[in-house]
Amino acid sequence: MTLRHFLQFRDFSRAEFDYLFERARLIKEKFKRYEPHHVLFDRTLVMIFEKASTRTRLSFEAGFQQLGGSAIYLNTRDSQLGRGEPVEDSAEVISRMSDLVMIRTFEQSIIERFAAHSRVPLINGLTNEYHPCQILADIFTFIERRGPIQGKTVAWVGDANNMCNTWLQAAETLDFRVHVSNPPGYEIRPAELGLRGSAHYETFADPMEACKGAHLVTTDVWTSMGYEAENETRMQAFADWCVDAEMMKIAAPDAVFMHCLPAHRGEEVTAEVIDGPQSVVWDEAENRLHAQKALMEFLLLGRQE
Ligand code: CP
Ligand code: NVA
Repeated sequence: MTLRHFLQFRDFSRAEFDYLFERARLIKEKFKRYEPHHVLFDRTLVMIFEKASTRTRLSFEAGFQQLGGSAIYLNTRDSQLGRGEPVEDSAEVISRMSDLVMIRTFEQSIIERFAAHSRVPLINGLTNEYHPCQILADIFTFIERRGPIQGKTVAWVGDANNMCNTWLQAAETLDFRVHVSNPPGYEIRPAELGLRGSAHYETFADPMEACKGAHLVTTDVWTSMGYEAENETRMQAFADWCVDAEMMKIAAPDAVFMHCLPAHRGEEVTAEVIDGPQSVVWDEAENRLHAQKALMEFLLLGRQE
């Protein structure tokens, strides 16, 4: 099998995503019926974390065990990664002892360097630039709730961060639209995302305008991991980019609200919205598990059936 990595959303084609969403549905159904799905028996996943995590660690570790394999957790603090061993050397060694690697780190260039020296598939578990596994789960959740995402509109309210960037790539790959509203000074930089064009997104100064008619309204923290020093300035700049009941009201009548979590109620979203009837955040978090099991199976075994 050709070695494949999932470093950014545009690494896979629309047909591959269609396959993954359908496969995630089947894997989820089996899980709910307590049917074993040990297709990766005896395989080893290495998970490297240079930033904190609850959902990503849990969903990858539990997911890989549910596939019959075992998962090893490494972090910067107590491995040689934190003591300056080159990424390239780490990749050579780690990929000789494992079947699959997942990394959560800072710059995208770090995982690209790792991938260039890896003998096994590599998954991006979040970088400063992208969070493709989260968007995989988010779109799977949208499809479960509302059917195909093609032709639909997603409103992004907030920072032009890793989540926003990944939504923009996904819109182009899967043919939907993103209405983006970022505060001044925190705008998207489409030229850096490798997009083919600008047909799948539109920018709005007013977040209410971005939400108008949207089928999915979503946001994320004002300050992502690694940017903590900017927190004070961001608190002021982002004050009007809080998803509230008014924004949900102006969206499509059956719009859903998503947030990758962790959330800060009263900052990027009101409690009324995230804990309200349109919010699907708990399904969204759970679906990390099912979507990533489909992804890991695909990277190691290719298409099944
Ligand atoms: N959404 C997400 O990636 O959560 P964690 O930071 O808890 O992994
Ligand atoms: N944008 C957030 C997502 C956390 C899951 C961050 O990078 O911290």
